[in-house]
Amino acid sequence: KPRVLSGCQPSGQLTIGNYMGALKQWVAMQQTHDCVYMIVDLHAITVRQDPKALNDACLDGLALYMACGVDPEKSTIFMQSHVPEHAQLAWALNCYTQMGELNRMTQFKDKSQTHSNNINVGLYTYPVLQAADILLYQANEVPIGEDQKQHLELTRDIATRFNNIYGEIFTLPEPHIPRSGARVMSLQDPNKKMSKSDANVNNFVGLLEDPKKVIKKIKRAVTDSDEKARIYFDVNEKPGVSNLLSLLSCTTGKEVSSLVPEYEDKMYGHLKGDVADAVVSLIEPIQSEFARLRQDETYLRTVMQQGSIKAQALASDTLSKVYSALGFVSKA
Ligand code: AQP
Repeated sequence: KPRVLSGCQPSGQLTIGNYMGALKQWVAMQQTHDCVYMIVDLHAITVRQDPKALNDACLDGLALYMACGVDPEKSTIFMQSHVPEHAQLAWALNCYTQMGELNRMTQFKDKSQTHSNNINVGLYTYPVLQAADILLYQANEVPIGEDQKQHLELTRDIATRFNNIYGEIFTLPEPHIPRSGARVMSLQDPNKKMSKSDANVNNFVGLLEDPKKVIKKIKRAVTDSDEKARIYFDVNEKPGVSNLLSLLSCTTGKEVSSLVPEYEDKMYGHLKGDVADAVVSLIEPIQSEFARLRQDETYLRTVMQQGSIKAQALASDTLSKVYSALGFVSKA
């Protein structure tokens, strides 16, 4: 089976954007792929985190993965920091990545603006750690939202460079971008993507949020103020309405093109009401399963320990190949 590798940062509560762009794909891919999914805690500290909140977010993330349908019997699930090979390979790859390449990364540029008081070296080399995450597992595919396309291209460039020098060490990963839901936008500012760490909580819908609040947030979402208030899909002219239509499409499974005629004579309020209902129907069962899993910390710890043993076996194999290719003397 082809292998997939993916992860979410415990930098806040996972959102419906993370669900559409990542988790939904992860669950489906368990049928066809050998799946490795992690909580990327090392990545999360590129912006300042409160230690207690980070600890909770890691365990919440683990329980949420499972509540969304990631099955530890089928997939390898673990905490990134439990497998030290991630940081070790990242160091080696840092030495095969040009600063010019990292300077071009749009996520770094965006986060340097939103976190201008803490533009640290980790934030800058984040894509190299991400390359290490993927290449360690010789992943064939990486399910991602649109926002991560550039990072995946960099991973491929680094792998190709390394392979050209040292032989076929790394598998070149392909992006797996969903047809719909690849870029869920912010509710108040539909020109930027929905992010779990957004300072304005009205911009995102967390998977664990109280449904009453979710309904309010969706009803307050920015639509567009053209005179006729028509409902159609056009991300440039109607970013807010288009985002709502995409959300409805992802949550109901109906194509946007078949949804639009249903709203021909309707008002924005109708669309918002339907999106709110669909999102609440999506998150309610996830929330009850989460509540059940989250209170059993012993079980969560067993899942992540078993996951990290499986993950480390794969990761250490690749790291040994890399160290040997580089000319490091082996311990044995
Ligand atoms: N808005 C989105 N629409 C679709 N997919 C999304 N993803 C993130 N936001 C959207 C996908 O979720 C996966 C995990 O992302 P991440 O947690 O590693 O980091 P991120 O992309 O930086 O996500 P956030 O929510 O924006 O986090 P913060 O706010 O901490 O930076 C990835 O596959 C991503 O494509």
